Amino acid sequence: MLLKEIKIGNITTPNNLFLAPLAGFSDFAMRQICLNFGAGLTFTEMVSCKGLLYDNENTKDLLYCSQDEKIKCAQIFGNDPYIMRRAIESQALSAFDIIDVNFGCPMPKIFNNGEGSALLQNPSLAEKIVYECSKSGKPITCKIRIGITDGQYVTEDVVKAVVNGGAQMVTVHGRTRDKIYAGEVNYAEIAKAKKVSSVPVIANGGIFTPDDAEKMINETGADGIMIARGALERPWIFAELLGKDVKISKKELINEHIDRLLTRFDDKTVSVIFRKQLCLYLKGEKNSAELKQKLFTYKDVKSIKLAINDFFN
Ligand SMILES: Cc1cc2nc3c(=O)[nH]c(=O)nc-3n(C[C@H](O)[C@H](O)[C@H](O)COP(=O)(O)O)c2cc1C
Repeated sequence: MLLKEIKIGNITTPNNLFLAPLAGFSDFAMRQICLNFGAGLTFTEMVSCKGLLYDNENTKDLLYCSQDEKIKCAQIFGNDPYIMRRAIESQALSAFDIIDVNFGCPMPKIFNNGEGSALLQNPSLAEKIVYECSKSGKPITCKIRIGITDGQYVTEDVVKAVVNGGAQMVTVHGRTRDKIYAGEVNYAEIAKAKKVSSVPVIANGGIFTPDDAEKMINETGADGIMIARGALERPWIFAELLGKDVKISKKELINEHIDRLLTRFDDKTVSVIFRKQLCLYLKGEKNSAELKQKLFTYKDVKSIKLAINDFFN
């Protein structure tokens, strides 16, 4: 696929292959692994602006970055432009170079609060949010969906609104809120976003292989792609897309991932928070069902490492 740098305000990414914000997954360890495989930009999972202002301890973990992360990008959610700007200007986000605003989260808790994908129904508020957030001086990017329900698409209106508000890049997840993460991706709507946008458009949804990436770019004309689940299962997809020769040892990758997490969290915490990711690494591995079940009984990293080393030997 066509590789190119992406300009986001005064920041230039080395390429146009991005790791998506992923709640529960895109922490510092996963982001660094994807960056090492060549991802051009990564995002923290979404953090609540209100949580940031209340100095929530958990939010600090979500925003933790390792020193190697060159371009730091945090994703925030909220619906009050002034609270959101204050959150961006708070100490917790001071180290971040780019702030991405979530206009896509489909979860009822967020949606019913008028946040995430609910804002797709209110382009003028979306514009106001981006306008106010941009006053922070940091480049603001937006991640949107194409609408709430199939057939009632709002892509063009929302893209125009957020670009008018000052967005420096827009990522379009080519599904409606109703589809959550399943079903066909609507390439035509992403293509419409590209047509009306004066800033880079990144296409997201359903990219699991280099062929999917190629198809996405060809069908939409987007400037780049963002990968979510495909990168959790196969973070080396970035190296494949860059045309690098990839020889992967899942055993080594799993051990590396655990060791990275141990630089921040204690042994017991790692043994718990790594389980979901480990199951994704084991996806497609023959005879891994029993191991996946056992993982949920292990309470320390040593047991996990032993089981993994046994499995792959
Ligand atoms: C477990 C999970 C967590 C997610 N968390 C976020 C999030 O925090 N912020 C966000 O904008 N999107 C989030 N998403 C959506 C993804 O970023 C992406 O838009 C979606 O999964 C479609 O891409 P894919 O088909 O490549 O997976 C999440 C998706 C999943 C599956």
